[in-house]
Amino acid sequence: MTERRVHVTGWGRYVPSQVLSNADLERMVDTSDEWIVSRTGIRERRVAAADETTASMAAVAALRAIRTAGIDPDEIDLILLATLTPDYWMPSTAALVKEAIGNTRAAAMDVAAACSGFVYAYASAQAWIAAGLAKHVLVIGAELLSRFLDYTDRGTCILFGDGAGAVVLSASDEPGGSLAVELTTEPQGAYMIWLPAGGAKSPPSSETIARGEHYIRMEGRETYRFATKTMATTALESVRKSGLDPSEVALFIPHQANVRIIEAVAKGLQLPMDRMYTNVDRYGNTSAASVPIALAEAVNEGRVQVGDNVTLVAFGAGFTSGAVTVNWTADPARGRDVDALVDRRDVRVRLPVDWDSVDPIPPALAELMARPGSLDVPLDDVVPGEPEPASHAPAR
Ligand code: UT7
Repeated sequence: MTERRVHVTGWGRYVPSQVLSNADLERMVDTSDEWIVSRTGIRERRVAAADETTASMAAVAALRAIRTAGIDPDEIDLILLATLTPDYWMPSTAALVKEAIGNTRAAAMDVAAACSGFVYAYASAQAWIAAGLAKHVLVIGAELLSRFLDYTDRGTCILFGDGAGAVVLSASDEPGGSLAVELTTEPQGAYMIWLPAGGAKSPPSSETIARGEHYIRMEGRETYRFATKTMATTALESVRKSGLDPSEVALFIPHQANVRIIEAVAKGLQLPMDRMYTNVDRYGNTSAASVPIALAEAVNEGRVQVGDNVTLVAFGAGFTSGAVTVNWTADPARGRDVDALVDRRDVRVRLPVDWDSVDPIPPALAELMARPGSLDVPLDDVVPGEPEPASHAPAR
């Protein structure tokens, strides 16, 4: 029997239009562009508009990946969505995305492994396909972190941004495609990055909210130490298991948390920085979305060619880490025009019926979101139960 192989056949990404620059943050917390750039490499990040959610961003990225793959959305057998910022505790965000992309057949579920989530979901999809359980799997990483950040905490709010990325993995008898996977989980780091309240251990209450326990908390230095130690070893393990030497990997697509962490990975692998793809300067840390956004951009920019070995590597809360090495087989030109073909305003996510909510934009961002040219749609214009916002500002 021919071995069933797993190829990346589609890729796509979506980032919100609203830019939050370091200068904007200088007006919100005691920080400086110089500090942020020199410590992290981040210059700006994106912030979702009031009518956007994790599901809506995920659906746009997913449809772009499906367009790149050249398949019908209904050919997808399984949807795995990695996120730490789901629209709701339940249902899964993946279920909402399934309907929004026009799929009627797929099983859909979320994957929780924080910033490593996309690599974990990719590895799971690979196993489903290799086992013959699915032919086409949609793997998404999507995050709306700006709604879980304390914009008075300079240690976290400067780091994160919103966005979504997706790939289609497909079964094939052709050589190449996914090679080896390496995944690790180290629970001693469980409380180094966490969101204290809202779960079963600490249900939400006015007290938890007053203490700001519904926001992401992080021990930056400890996390940095873990990341610099683990990213290179996890990547190396995946490369070695694939029968390769790091020098045979054309491009590494690392989780975009901090350019200094990526530089440490390059040093650990004894490779120059031009083998590391970076876009952290433009989007900050988009958690589970960062690797698929970076992959889509790297391929569309011509940084990946047919026959190249590529290693995706991430780390995150848990502590988790994951890496997968891929022998690239798809024509990079296929994804270049898909952004224009899938407009975010054409994508509808089911809204709850008979339910109203508060404005989702954190007060500290509200002023920024209201400035001229903003894409923000006031929540008052979104009628619960009706999938269509009453008006859209024109795209910039
Ligand atoms: O996906 C995983 C998510 N997490 C990460 O990737 C985070 C990993 N950690 C990091 O990237 C870095 O630890 C940070 C960028 C978060 C911080 O950089 P650092 O070089 O480790 O700085 P530090 O935490 O050691 O802080 C140095 C100083 C402190 O002041 P003192 O105590 O020396 O007076 C901080 O209070 O910098 C101060 N500081 C800031 N200053 C200006 C912390 N945040 C800021 C800020 N602006 N935004």
